Amino acid sequence: MGKIVIAIDGYSGCGKSSTAKAVAKILGYTYIDSGAMYRAATLHFLNENLRPSKPEEAIQGLQTLSISFKINPETGLQETYLNGKNVEDEIRSMQISHRVSELATVASIRRELVAQQQRLGSGKGVVMDGRDIGSVVFPDADLKVFMTANLETRAKRRQLELLEKGQTVDLEEIKENLAGRDEVDSSRAESPLMKMSDAVEVDTSNLTFEGQVAQIVQLAKAKIEMN
Ligand code: CDP
Repeated sequence: MGKIVIAIDGYSGCGKSSTAKAVAKILGYTYIDSGAMYRAATLHFLNENLRPSKPEEAIQGLQTLSISFKINPETGLQETYLNGKNVEDEIRSMQISHRVSELATVASIRRELVAQQQRLGSGKGVVMDGRDIGSVVFPDADLKVFMTANLETRAKRRQLELLEKGQTVDLEEIKENLAGRDEVDSSRAESPLMKMSDAVEVDTSNLTFEGQVAQIVQLAKAKIEMN
């Protein structure tokens, strides 16, 4: 049975990353968080005081940008590194959430990050989540999932996630951020978020975490058997 490529796309905060991570663990696959790369790039541009929307500054920012992932041996969890520094917690802050979708509209930055994502996922046995994975990064993915959930549910889940990281954020601020990113991500000219015709939609509003993971694992196993 051959290994497959699984692309999980969907709206902000519907649980793509945690689900994708769990699915990868069950299947023994590599998990790649493409959103973490856009978040790390956003932090880099902020740190360097560069504006991604200015073509020359975008080139300058990309030249000094190096993103990698490492497994933390204590927790077994994957963490994001920016130019050698662990930025896993910093990139999940609301400050980055407020800026990331703007950077993600810039074509030159997307081109570079997409090329890196394609390299990272070049072997089979990969689960990658994001907004353009099934459309641009891996258009030939064996399994494409489009995850959704209603805004209220997504905001409450994100609030809890942030609280677990020690960040207390008002529910309304989270709702506005998620809805705002959905709008920018879906309407941008460059690789907008959309449900591909060959993607399976999974609405997680009324599913438990275990339920949504089980559903995707089941879809994956059916594809693996056919492979
Ligand atoms: O986890 P959450 O749903 O908050 O978002 P994320 O996956 O960390 O992605 C953060 C932002 O990066 C998104 O709102 C998009 O603007 C951008 N992104 C993208 O444009 N393309 C991707 N493949 C992944 C993320």
